[in-house]
Amino acid sequence: MKSQTSAPGKIILFGEHFVVYGIPAILCAIDRRVKVTSEKIAQKEINIKSEIGKLKIPVSTPISQVNSPLKPFYYLADHISRKHNYKDGIEITIESEIPSGVGLGSSSACCVAAAGSISGLFEKASKEEILKLSIDAEKTIYPNTSGADCTVCTFGGIMKYDKKSGYAKINSQSNFELVIANSKIIHTTDDVVSNVKKFKEKNEDRFLNLCKNEEELIANALENLKKNDLIGLGSTISTNQKYLEAIGVSNEKLQEMIKLADSTSFGSKLTGAGGGGCIFALTDHTNTKETINKLSKKYECFSAKIDFKGIDTF
Ligand code: MEV
Repeated sequence: MKSQTSAPGKIILFGEHFVVYGIPAILCAIDRRVKVTSEKIAQKEINIKSEIGKLKIPVSTPISQVNSPLKPFYYLADHISRKHNYKDGIEITIESEIPSGVGLGSSSACCVAAAGSISGLFEKASKEEILKLSIDAEKTIYPNTSGADCTVCTFGGIMKYDKKSGYAKINSQSNFELVIANSKIIHTTDDVVSNVKKFKEKNEDRFLNLCKNEEELIANALENLKKNDLIGLGSTISTNQKYLEAIGVSNEKLQEMIKLADSTSFGSKLTGAGGGGCIFALTDHTNTKETINKLSKKYECFSAKIDFKGIDTF
């Protein structure tokens, strides 16, 4: 029997990095997916196949002995097998439409889809159980995760998230569109998050002020989303970009892309960890095409819609 689950990628509309320190963030799932297929096999091994590599490990290998970017998937297979007292092997195949390492949630979407797919070999797990498993799995390679990315990849839609109270769906009637452009500079989320920690330790007062500013900005953004005021929302997005520049996660290339995107869209910013990765521009039917035309002359870019479904089991 095969068990298949897919999960969407995401963008962070507001609040990346500050969310690690307890400030709310606003996230949105996008219509690019990861699909994970799992199957029980007779060989006593966990066999993982993905575009970023392959990994074959004997069952019951201690997780501390696994040193691979595919560790979260071994963790999931091992953890779920133990729970169900299953002693044979599992083959896991990961197929992704989301470019990896560029801030679009590919790692979180893979963890969520894998948690759903492997669990599905034994039981029908709830979304909450899948979310918990996926965050624990992601922590094996990225211990400081706020959990925001896995949460939006599980539930889909637009949401407000903070570490203490978790997520709240935002039922916005907003008709915005997103144009996403890729700098092709690959980043490691953990490294960028560690650099922000160093910045915070050296600049405690400045960082505290930026956290306060970000919190106010999020409150404004929620109002703008409620009123479907795209001009107001675009301006809060541009302000958020300035706060990200202040903590050192932007760079020259991203700023060049943002300048270009701002000339036709309502506002733009980097999304995810930064240090490279993607920017997104807020648009609607009046300026999406023009923004794509501008950006695509120099960068790989595409338009994305909100994914309202989240995890999907089939
Ligand atoms: C990465 O997509 C988002 C960060 O805020 C880290 C996190 O929330 O765990 C940079």
